[in-house]
Amino acid sequence: MYDWLLGGELNFEADRKACEDLLRIAPSSRELALNNRWFLQRVVRFLAEERGITQFLDHGSGLPTRPNVHQVAQEVHENARVAYIDIDPIVIAHGRTSLDVNSGTRFIEASMTDTERIVEQASRGGFIDFSRPVAALYVSVIHCLKDSEQPGEMIRRMRERLAPGSYVVVCQLVSDDEKVREDVTKLMRDGTGDQWGRVREKGDVRRYFDGLTVLPPYLVDVTHWRPDSELRLRRAQRTHEWVEFGGVARIR
Ligand SMILES: C[S@@+](CC[C@H](N)C(=O)[O-])C[C@H]1O[C@@H](n2cnc3c(N)ncnc32)[C@H](O)[C@@H]1O
Repeated sequence: MYDWLLGGELNFEADRKACEDLLRIAPSSRELALNNRWFLQRVVRFLAEERGITQFLDHGSGLPTRPNVHQVAQEVHENARVAYIDIDPIVIAHGRTSLDVNSGTRFIEASMTDTERIVEQASRGGFIDFSRPVAALYVSVIHCLKDSEQPGEMIRRMRERLAPGSYVVVCQLVSDDEKVREDVTKLMRDGTGDQWGRVREKGDVRRYFDGLTVLPPYLVDVTHWRPDSELRLRRAQRTHEWVEFGGVARIR
């Protein structure tokens, strides 16, 4: 669905049909997807350029769509390493066969909740060195988890594995409109055989950052997170029904 919203070609009839239903509930879904993807690019560039991060864990990476995290990070640090993690075997298969993957990329089929497996597979052969800073990305993925999967606990478990000077990036779908929250959640649960979490409220996302040092501009609609320019920000389409809400925190 996300690929179709971004204008990609790696999508299926069922995805397109579900997107049409989604657009009826939330007509700004395409703009939301694009705003989110631009945020992902800005945040990776910021962490690589301004914070010297060379190692990334991209949880729920999604289908390859240029530029991917490694392309942005390797523009800054040629040897940057990115472990892509996704629960969907089709996503992992497409990632592994992408033409531009290189020795700085690794694809791990796992649930983002399986911290032990991710750390074990990412660190195998010294690919990701957990004694040095890592950026753990959870961009537009936490809404895929049910409350019973304890997303806050998942983030805390990963935080504990990361060295001082690491970063955590989290954003997810939120809406102030109860009807949008309920209707989108129902649509997504129906379409995935109940394999989806929920659209949440800003307060839920704030709790993921409890005890962490959040960087300015703190927790925001990600469209407003360090925009490239005022002009770009003004041109970004507003999404009235919902936003991707979140930010970036430093570990110790
Ligand atoms: C909306 S896409 C986000 C893509 C990318 N992070 C971005 O922001 O551009 C959500 C992805 O999360 C994946 N996903 C859903 N539940 C997951 C889980 N429990 N563990 C890992 N990946 C998951 C889906 O397969 C999908 O590829």
